[in-house]
Amino acid sequence: MKLHWLTTASLADIAANHLTRKLATKPTAAIALPTGETPLALYRCLAERRQAGTFACDQARFFNLDEFVGLGPQDSGSYGAYVQRHIATPLGIDPAHLRLLRGDAPDLAAECRAFDQAIQEAGGLDLAILGIGTNGHIAFNEPGTDWQAPTHRVTLAEATRQAQRSLYADVAAVPREGLTMGIATIRAARSILLLAAGQNKRQALDALLAGRPEPAWPVTAILDHPDLTILADQQLRAAA
Ligand code: PGA
Repeated sequence: MKLHWLTTASLADIAANHLTRKLATKPTAAIALPTGETPLALYRCLAERRQAGTFACDQARFFNLDEFVGLGPQDSGSYGAYVQRHIATPLGIDPAHLRLLRGDAPDLAAECRAFDQAIQEAGGLDLAILGIGTNGHIAFNEPGTDWQAPTHRVTLAEATRQAQRSLYADVAAVPREGLTMGIATIRAARSILLLAAGQNKRQALDALLAGRPEPAWPVTAILDHPDLTILADQQLRAAA
């Protein structure tokens, strides 16, 4: 595991460098991208670099990590809509190179299987970029999730529903279920980059840095990954 403590301001830049290096070695890389507050600065940084002509991802393949059950990219509160708005449009990603997990698919079990199949067909993930939930979730893999599971349907933890402030003003409107890239799918990525920022991530990051796999903290499932890089906001360091 490589751990880098960074200023809030530099985290996005360093994450963008990491992704740029990956694409320099493999322009056709298959990459999983997170949604949420933390990576927004990364996507802004990549969009600026694209404008400046210093970043391109035309040949890469992209996947998202999770979606709410019942929602598709046409729904404003969906992660698919987030991906379109903050990633696909500003980075000019060809729709044929983007596979979104669809919470509005008619058969959700089949959708989960097809999603993993699409990752396989892309040659497996070269890089999975992850955020971390206050409860230690990665994607929508909540505490207690089976670490052997591929992409699957989940019941969302209350902490996860509460955290959707940027998408839903009213927590009662947040869907109760989601689809998530499974921990098995994430662990199979050749490389993982975890972004940890925000005071509410302190406990989850502590659990990770304690270095022991704990089912109550799904993020600890990636501890033994052979190519794991953690970029953590140095404001979280005191307790870590
Ligand atoms: P955040 O979410 O970046 O919005 O804090 C991360 C997560 O819950 O995985």
